Amino acid sequence: MERTLVIVKPDAVNRDLVGEIVHRFERKGLKIAAMKMQVLKPYALKEHYAQHKDKGFYEELIKYMSSIPCILMALEGKDCVNVVRKMVGSTLGREAEPGTIRGDYSVSNQANLVHASDSSEKAEEEINRFFGKEELHQYNKMNFDWIYSSDEKCIERKKK
Ligand code: CMP
Repeated sequence: MERTLVIVKPDAVNRDLVGEIVHRFERKGLKIAAMKMQVLKPYALKEHYAQHKDKGFYEELIKYMSSIPCILMALEGKDCVNVVRKMVGSTLGREAEPGTIRGDYSVSNQANLVHASDSSEKAEEEINRFFGKEELHQYNKMNFDWIYSSDEKCIERKKK
């Protein structure tokens, strides 16, 4: 099964939206493989946001993301990267579709509540940046059989 990194950002923590956001991912059927609260270090954030280093908002982004603790999660599921990005919505909260996390709770481009990896490769890189191996859990979820068809589970088995 695919994994993705989700960061519940400082604005969501300050606005008491952590439970709401985690709840949505759980209800969708995604598995929480890892979860912790941490103040993110500027050096890790600089690496994480390297693609934005020439943008005008970069310095402020690093300051905001390291200002108070974030919630970090590694989620797992079939096509998890895509599923989570759809649930999160587009970057600018004002334009994000209603029904998405940003569309329902954000009106900002910076304070957009959640980060979600944008590809499977990036997800693995980001998960390894923020989590140690010992923090990533492998366990059987009892509701797995009610979340996926046997076909979907077979496809996943063949891929491994
Ligand atoms: P994220 O999806 O984590 O990836 C890059 C982040 O930069 C983005 O969410 C926002 O928090 C932030 N961001 C993107 N565009 C802008 C902008 N125009 N001004 C300020 N922050 C931005």
